[in-house]
Amino acid sequence: MASTDLSIFNLRCEYLSNPEGVDELKPRLSWMLVSARRGARQSAYRVLVASTQKLLKRDRADLWDSGRVESDETAHVAYDGRPLRSRDACVWRVEVWDEGGTRAVSPEARWTVGLLDRTDWTAHWIAANPKIYRRKGKAVAPNWKVPGTPAVFRREFELHSPVKRATLYATARGLFEVRINGQRIGSDVLCPEWTDYDKRIHYRTYDAAAALVRGSNAVAATLGDGWWSGYVGWQRTRGRYGSLQNSILLQLEVQLADGSKLIIGTDVSWRCNTGPIISSDFMAGEVYDARREHPGWDRPGFACANWSNSIEVSPPAAALVAQRCEPVRVTEVIKPVSVVLRSPGVLLYDLGQNIAGWVRLRIMAPTGSRFTLRHGERLDSNGKLYTRNLRRAKATDVYTCRGGGETWEPRFTFHGFQYVELSGAAVALSSVSLVGCVVGSATRQVGSFVCSHPGVNRLWLNALWSQRGNFLSVPTDCPQRDERLGWMGDAQVFLRTATYNMDVAAFMTKWMIDVEDAQTQDGIFPDTAPRLREDTNYTGLTDLAGSAGWADAGVIVPWTLWRVYGDRRIIERHWKAMTAWLDYLERTNPGGLRANDLGNNYGDWLCLPSDTSFRTDSPMKFLLATAYWADDAAKMARMAAELGRNREARRFKAMFEWVRAAFQKKFLRADGKLTVNTQTAYLLALEMNLLPRTARPTALKCLVANIMSRDWHLSTGFIGVSRLNPMLTLGGRADVAYRLLLQQDYPSWLYPVRHGATTIWERWNGWTRKDGFFNPQMNSFNHYSLGSIGEWLFRHVAGIELDAVVPGFRKFILRPFPGKGLNTAAATYRTMHGEIVSSWVRSGSRFSWVVTVPPNTAALVFIPREHSAAPTEGGRPLSMSPGLRDLGRKGLFHLCEAAAGSYAFESLWRHEDVPFKMFPEK
Ligand code: BGC
Repeated sequence: MASTDLSIFNLRCEYLSNPEGVDELKPRLSWMLVSARRGARQSAYRVLVASTQKLLKRDRADLWDSGRVESDETAHVAYDGRPLRSRDACVWRVEVWDEGGTRAVSPEARWTVGLLDRTDWTAHWIAANPKIYRRKGKAVAPNWKVPGTPAVFRREFELHSPVKRATLYATARGLFEVRINGQRIGSDVLCPEWTDYDKRIHYRTYDAAAALVRGSNAVAATLGDGWWSGYVGWQRTRGRYGSLQNSILLQLEVQLADGSKLIIGTDVSWRCNTGPIISSDFMAGEVYDARREHPGWDRPGFACANWSNSIEVSPPAAALVAQRCEPVRVTEVIKPVSVVLRSPGVLLYDLGQNIAGWVRLRIMAPTGSRFTLRHGERLDSNGKLYTRNLRRAKATDVYTCRGGGETWEPRFTFHGFQYVELSGAAVALSSVSLVGCVVGSATRQVGSFVCSHPGVNRLWLNALWSQRGNFLSVPTDCPQRDERLGWMGDAQVFLRTATYNMDVAAFMTKWMIDVEDAQTQDGIFPDTAPRLREDTNYTGLTDLAGSAGWADAGVIVPWTLWRVYGDRRIIERHWKAMTAWLDYLERTNPGGLRANDLGNNYGDWLCLPSDTSFRTDSPMKFLLATAYWADDAAKMARMAAELGRNREARRFKAMFEWVRAAFQKKFLRADGKLTVNTQTAYLLALEMNLLPRTARPTALKCLVANIMSRDWHLSTGFIGVSRLNPMLTLGGRADVAYRLLLQQDYPSWLYPVRHGATTIWERWNGWTRKDGFFNPQMNSFNHYSLGSIGEWLFRHVAGIELDAVVPGFRKFILRPFPGKGLNTAAATYRTMHGEIVSSWVRSGSRFSWVVTVPPNTAALVFIPREHSAAPTEGGRPLSMSPGLRDLGRKGLFHLCEAAAGSYAFESLWRHEDVPFKMFPEK
């Protein structure tokens, strides 16, 4: 057989590598191809799924053999074999034929099926016996204000034969950590994920075989508060879901070599006690007394006669569903860049990076020595830890030593911080050290960006770090203060940037379920998901639902996941919910202007001057709300067409036209200007195609004039900012976009960078040289929204852009706009189909550009060019270069179509700061 250089990698099931416990009945499989050959393509595939490795090795695909399918599809191939059953193991591989008919075989991958039915659970939900909470002989009742004391549970059992397979299914109302025979199971933290626990609770599935032994075994668990019963958001009391009682459900299923099966499930026979964690809460922090540890409690043979039996509690009404996204993990450990002794016994550490997470402390001190760790994002002008902006989040951990040298990190809390103040018993610097544990959902980084401007590089990194700190189970606004909520506006505005930085497909698919869970009966999408329970909301904000630009995320998120990942299932699954939202908008706004029931209507949140965003009657707010409605309708029309829902496609197209007409009637003046002269108003009108074609040039001019009138500064808030540079660029004014990018003065992206920011700040004026810190009531230094410039760096600086029609980067556009101030830019981006590279260098008037188009994809390439000279590839004219189809010149670009492969283009380019003549584009 001829050999191919095509190899297959990154086999995934529902976006995850070798997931345990999947509950999709037709999970979608995908793979990636790699090849150095130009034009490498898949012409056919065959998927084989077997119940054991042995069978698969013998080509006996007893679960599914797709047969040879003549198709170039490599993503979202839905399993179509024998109906899957709880606990099935599915071992799979794919065979691929390239364009010449040569076959390649992938390595093996697997997934296992979770517990599909409630009756699969024989374990019982248990909680700590209240008897364990006694102080000085007296029972201590749970307190709605005071964080609870995590309980520990344990049970021993015998295995009389070696273990063949062992699976642990685990969940909690609260947060759990499980250990078997002294070993931690899984590396996830803060599980289960945050969902609307009234509606669904995730369970985790772990392969536990390696931890078990023939003979005596012990399984042990710790159970903390977390989102279930701890402080969440700005709540005044704990217990968001109406209960302070944590409970846990563990089911360990063991298959032994002798053929027998055993299930060890939680029940009242599990012994429980309090442990070394005195209290732990997301906002408050963790208090830990190592003297109260129970040495050996997680191993067999531990004497627990004085522990209590657990109590059984009723199971939740909510559905138990398999975890479908990457868990939260410690994703990196970083060493401080400095430590200073601020006063006797007070050390101040600087991690050099603002993170979400906690510290791992290593300490040598006598037993009973107590240390306090306080966390903050910034230092004040006296060099002291600045914590006022944390509001009521105490973010303080306290550790009491057992003595003799120890390492500790908290379990059930997290903080947003760059600086840590350690105080307590005066110890020599040499006997204490700490590192920062970076905590977040373990989504994989898929993009990188680097250019010749160090400030811009830091800006991109800041956005990446804000993503890492805020994609923590749900996309939160900030990790430090008493908030940390899944704000929808922030998430939708940052989503394109997020997809370039990390693979957020699984994470966002999970969150979209939270969004739908939070939708009201009337079809109103929430402002935050999981939903904020109104009964615990003291802010005066009513109905945290339905706000323009926030609630619209209910449409924008599925739309974006479809466009970026080619995922049709997400739009199918949320179709009803999205339609209900549009029905609601139509019902409540018969005039076609979104003027009624605007919820909290945040407007262009935190724009400049920020006060306009608080005025409820600001015409800008109605403009913004109407624009989003029109855009939702336009997106719905395209998604309906994709799903073959033609009648609905017509309905939403008509709705778009109707709202657009109302928009023009209300906000467009005869001279082509908008009645609201803000940057964001023009940006929305341009991006959302709300203007007649003839008015677009005027809109662009007004936008540029507005920027110029501010001495080339931006004034956009959360909503406008992501559109600013893309719209300027696509409108032909990349020169202005670059000017804004490289602006160093306040307000600008680089102003915080110049002043030491290592994450994106919530507001342009979070700190200014003139006024110092902004009002601490709302001033986070780790909020990703204003970092949505990342999208432009990839899309238009490096030039890696979605095709206007084909989703999922199967076809895509490579079109950089080299501008004044950058001599080089390079990005890599791993899509569903493999890695795209775009890297350009300018020296003098020579423009050199290296690109990679992954196998099985094609790119439309726009080479920036001087009028006089034709570009070349690898020293040849484009028409002579294999893999390329020369399409000729268009404006300041030369176009060609590129098949898979790597290319090195050369052209002449002197236009540092002239407008690019673009052709009309939506
Ligand atoms: C959050 C935001 C959010 C906003 C709603 C703030 O408190 O931090 O990021 O989008 O409220 O306007």
